[in-house]
Amino acid sequence: MNCLEPFTSLAFDVWQQPKGADAFHSFARFSTSQSPTLKSLFLLLLKAMGKILGVVNQKGGVGKTTTAINLSACLALEGLRTLLVDCDPQANASSGIGFQRDDNRRSIYDVLMGDCPAEQVILPTEIDHLWLLPGSKNLTGANVELAGATDRALRLRRALAPLRDAYDLIILDCPPALDLLTLNVLSAAETLLVPMQAEYFALEGISELISTLERVRAAYNPSLTIEGVLLTMYDDRTNLAQQVTETLREYFRERLYRTVIPRNVRLAEAPSHGKPVALYDARSRGTEAYFELAGEFLARNQIESPRSAERKVAAAARPNVKVSFWPYS
Ligand SMILES: Nc1ncnc2c1ncn2[C@@H]1O[C@H](COP(=O)(O)OP(=O)(O)OP(=O)(O)O)[C@@H](O)[C@H]1O
Ligand SMILES: [Mg+2]
Repeated sequence: MNCLEPFTSLAFDVWQQPKGADAFHSFARFSTSQSPTLKSLFLLLLKAMGKILGVVNQKGGVGKTTTAINLSACLALEGLRTLLVDCDPQANASSGIGFQRDDNRRSIYDVLMGDCPAEQVILPTEIDHLWLLPGSKNLTGANVELAGATDRALRLRRALAPLRDAYDLIILDCPPALDLLTLNVLSAAETLLVPMQAEYFALEGISELISTLERVRAAYNPSLTIEGVLLTMYDDRTNLAQQVTETLREYFRERLYRTVIPRNVRLAEAPSHGKPVALYDARSRGTEAYFELAGEFLARNQIESPRSAERKVAAAARPNVKVSFWPYS
């Protein structure tokens, strides 16, 4: 038995109670404010439960879905059990990994409406270790249908709670709006990745996102953090891109990811083939960039992937050949 299991199951119980959000809220606030030991225990506990990462930006077309699909795929290819959750009525994350629109298929909509548990909706994908909780256009209705429910902002969080042990990472793709679906993502996520294009208008809206985040922290999710800001569709030949990068670095400091995703036509083509770029063109710059992003994400979170552990064992087992050059000594 994992030595943290008693704590994780306690957290699950608290999480899943009807008033789970309030109880977990108090538990998080209590443990993070009391002592450094309790705080580290709380953080260790969250780590043991599997990370939930929301990919958010209310601005449209900035590369959220491309990032959610390809980061999930690279993490799964590194051997981590990864669940991609498509919370967008456009359902681009679902079609982008090979699940075309199907109005009869159950989706996250049915889960949010309380019609079935998430386990019954999850689908395996072409990649081992990668699963999809599909979206559907019905999600548009969820914004209205859930408006009167008192727990409307916490539906996703409750639905994902029983899954946290089954996956190393759960990645949530958001719609381009600060609506009820995004609010559900902000309440469910542990941390947020914000993809952004290096252009002037990208900076607008960030203060709105940050103030929404503060309100969600106060109301539902006190331990919510920003994992990082990721520059996407980057073209380093333009002065504007460099200026915007500098501004973002001043503002976000080490939260700005070192990895940047270049503009790459293979990344744009891959979704029409229903594949992550790593399967569509393994040698493209897009594939390289998303593996680099996965590496940076894992390093920042001190997570060692099974593939990385295997690479270390293989390197250690390799005979240490000493090469001598003439004249031999
Ligand atoms: N690095 C890239 N290089 C080239 N094209 C890209 C790149 N990233 C994304 N794209 C393309 O840009 C468009 C928008 O990307 P994407 O759908 O990922 O953005 P989004 O933020 O999810 O959009 P929305 O807000 O509508 O959900 C898509 O056509 C996608 O294929
Ligand atoms: Mg999208």
